[in-house]
Amino acid sequence: MEKIKMLIIGAGTWGTAHAGIFKEHPLAECVGICDYNTEKAEAVAREFDIPKVYSNYQEMLKEVSCDAVSIVTPDHLHGDIAVACAEAGKHILIEKPLATNREDVERIVDAVNRNKVRAMVDLHNRWNPPFALAKDAVDRGELGTLRSGYFRLNDIKWVATDLLPWASSSSILWFLGSHSLDTLNWLFNSRVKRVYSVSNSGVLKGLGVDTVDTYLTTLEYENGCIAQMENGWITPNGNVNVNDMKCTILGDKGMISIDTSNHNLIQQYNDSQAKVPDVLVRNSVHGRVKGFAYESIRSFIDKLATGEHFIVSLEDATQVTLVILAIIESAKKREPVEIL
Ligand SMILES: NC(=O)c1ccc[n+]([C@@H]2O[C@H](COP(=O)([O-])OP(=O)(O)OC[C@H]3O[C@@H](n4cnc5c(N)ncnc54)[C@H](O)[C@@H]3O)[C@@H](O)[C@H]2O)c1
Repeated sequence: MEKIKMLIIGAGTWGTAHAGIFKEHPLAECVGICDYNTEKAEAVAREFDIPKVYSNYQEMLKEVSCDAVSIVTPDHLHGDIAVACAEAGKHILIEKPLATNREDVERIVDAVNRNKVRAMVDLHNRWNPPFALAKDAVDRGELGTLRSGYFRLNDIKWVATDLLPWASSSSILWFLGSHSLDTLNWLFNSRVKRVYSVSNSGVLKGLGVDTVDTYLTTLEYENGCIAQMENGWITPNGNVNVNDMKCTILGDKGMISIDTSNHNLIQQYNDSQAKVPDVLVRNSVHGRVKGFAYESIRSFIDKLATGEHFIVSLEDATQVTLVILAIIESAKKREPVEIL
């Protein structure tokens, strides 16, 4: 079988993760990478043997023959690039979120449909083993009829203050809330019809990052399920886990509780520091990349190769963006907002 030729746009933290998977996947080959910052793109190209480096994605799309493109630019900069890739007839893997405004969502969906290309958004918590097991149990009816859920997904402050230079142009809702919301939608197998959210700000603004600290959101689903979702970006940096992730799903016959923050499988200490190395999200075993954050990218290639449906549909990702826009509106107005 011929390899799927990939391009990557955005050579930051996560563009590097995409390059690692394409290097390893037997059906993929990364043929070009682009970043405004060519030094970053060149470094990733050297590490993963990518032959072409560009600073302008339009040029790369014109000059390098490929099948599909990974879009791994900051959260608010997916729209124009996704439309350009679809117009060029390329399949696209877009990092979450699909987009951060309704107009971009509509433009992307229109360009994908008109050009008959395929698109997946990397809402990778569906590959997270405890959640995948929970979904199977829900689908087998082991929890009965689902009634309610709780999802907490927070990050330490460092992610907003130090890791992401563009955090002020995004928010914890786009960066992590997209994952928690998609997971709830998937587990409940329903659409959100109404949201009510409250938020507060101040800690991050005081640290020079102009974004909301925490959102607490009530979600009402079309099938009657209700859920609480907590997304904050101000967990103290001393937390040994970057993420604080807890979820409960309750049905009339059973319940599932998931806590991926405290796996307790390995802890490492010295005189000044304790750490809990990641064994679930993204790591390497005998030089091979592992973890659910890699499985989603691998799955994009697998499904392109077989022609099967992607595990995350464009419609699912569209819903995530539209509901997050409603959450932001609700938190500003301090009143419930219907999803239109
Ligand atoms: N699925 C996950 O687990 C996961 C994890 C981290 C980040 N992400 C997502 O990946 C995306 C990128 O995040 P990151 O942490 O890698 O950010 P980053 O800041 O490390 O990298 C983004 C890169 O994009 C480049 N860039 C921006 N606009 C560009 C353009 N028009 N052309 C070429 N290059 C451009 C920047 O120069 C930067 O190097 C975000 O949407 C983020 O939410 C997903």
